[in-house]
Order: sequence, then C-alpha cells, then structure tokens
Amino acid sequence: MRVTLRQLEVFATVARNGSFTKAADILHLSQPAVSMQIKQLESSIDMPLFEQIGKKIYLTNAGEEMFTYSQQISQLLDEAEIVLEELKGVQSGRLDISVATTASHFTTRLLAAFSKRFEGVSINLDVTNRETIRHQLENNEPDLVIMGQPPEGIEVDAQAFMENPLVMIAPPDHPLANAKNIDLSHFADEHFVVRERGSGTLGAIERFFKEHGVPFHTGIEMSSNEAIKQAVEAGLGLGIASIHTLELELETKRLVMLDVEDFPINRHWFLVQRKGKRLSTVAQAFKDFILSEAEEFIR
Ligand code: PGA
Repeated sequence: MRVTLRQLEVFATVARNGSFTKAADILHLSQPAVSMQIKQLESSIDMPLFEQIGKKIYLTNAGEEMFTYSQQISQLLDEAEIVLEELKGVQSGRLDISVATTASHFTTRLLAAFSKRFEGVSINLDVTNRETIRHQLENNEPDLVIMGQPPEGIEVDAQAFMENPLVMIAPPDHPLANAKNIDLSHFADEHFVVRERGSGTLGAIERFFKEHGVPFHTGIEMSSNEAIKQAVEAGLGLGIASIHTLELELETKRLVMLDVEDFPINRHWFLVQRKGKRLSTVAQAFKDFILSEAEEFIR
C-alpha cells in the first residue's frame, strides 16, 4: 500500500469535518487538490473511503478503519516530535497553548515571565472562545489550555490554579456607586452589557442568577471585555466581568465595583490538557510554572 502522510492528513481532516470544503479551508488547499489526494488514497487501497448521501458525506467501513489508523499514526508522529524535543531540552522547544478570551488579560504577562526564564522556547498562543477550545481539545491540538471551567463531555485533566472572581461594574456616577450590600433582586429588571453566547463568563453569570432565583436580562452583547468596559463607562448599562480584566479601570476610577449581595461570583482558572496526553519538556515546564507561580505573579 503506497500511502503518503500528506494523503492521511487530508483524509483525516475531511473525515473529522465531514466536508471537503471545510478541509480545504483548514489546510489552505483548493477543493480539487483535496479531492485529488482522497482519490489517490482510494486508488492505492482500491476501495472508496467516503460515500455521499444527499448533501452529506459519510465514511465507508474502509474509511472508518483508515480514520482510526490515521489518528494513531498522527499521534505517533506527535510523540516522536516530543521525544526529539526532549533530546534538545527545554531551551529550544515549542509551546502551543490556547486560552479563553478573558484569560488573555493575564496570560501574556505569564508568558513574558516564562519566556524570559527559557529564552529559546518558541510560543504559539491562541486566544479564542470556549467552543473553539473545546474542538481543539477534542482534536488534541494544544499542549495546554487555560479556561474558566473544564469542558464537559471530553476526558481532560484539569487543575484549578487561581481564583477568578466576577464583579459587577458601573460608571463612578451611578446612583448605586456608594450603596452597601445591594439586594440582588434590585437588578431583576436591569439589562446588562454582556459577552457573546459561548463565553464562560456569561454562562457563569446566568447560572448564578438562576441559582439565586433572580431573572437575568441580557442587553447589548459584545465579544470583547474591552468593549464591555467601554460600554459600561459610557453608561450603556451595568456589566459583570472578571476582576482580572479590570485592574486599570478600577485603579484609575473610570469604573467602580458595586457592593452587591453574594458578590463576587466565585470562579477559578483551570489549566487543562487532554487526559493521558504526553507533555513535552517545555509544556511540562510551563505547567509547573503556572501551577506554582501564576497566582503570585498576577497578584
Ligand atoms: P470567557 O471566559 O469565555 O468569558 O472569556 C473564560 C471562561 O470562563 O472559560
């Protein structure tokens, strides 16, 4: 059987995404180039790998078998890369990490400290939303992930390393700015400026209000914490955000924290990896650094 690693990579990408078009996008290839690789692979095993039913494509039995093997082969190649990296030591390795949007507010500082200590390490940081991180973990892509709550339904190892309190914010001239222990029910008719659907912060806020039996209404949705802070400052509504995004605004008094009953909402930051994933020396060094020093650094 004459099969190339490239053909296996293209095949696995089509199989994972159930689409030639998506695979072409991900691999930066044209769709005919993707089809050609699949055709060549099919002709070398002399069996079809996909079948089309309506608009959808499905793996044939041969395709299922091939998919299992292609995943094993890619895992072995990853492992070979790790072992070879280990021979080079921490100083010259590569670190792939993904962090949830809100975590990016402190991750860059951690990375700066880490790369000062290990100067030869090259770092690839992906800042993205919870849903994308979930897919990345499913596909075993990043070495490590920093997020607000481990994803459900995927086997992961997750360790909490720092508190992540969510606080309610308002402009300094807000009538409640100096009030003490405000009743949560006071906000039952409020329309909050919130993060987009899929944000871990929004999910935690909604759970909190539900647990307290108080209605929570979303007003304007925004996909960045910066935009939320500016909107609250401009008087577009109240907001609830991680304390880690607010350092500057609270210090310069452009925003104030409201003193609300049962606030802050207590959350944690987690360091997450696929269960059983073998970490490279660099990734292990980064993990050790986060678990033992991150909290101190951010404080
Ligand atoms: P975010 O927060 O998704 O709201 O940026 C991180 C998280 O809670 O996972």
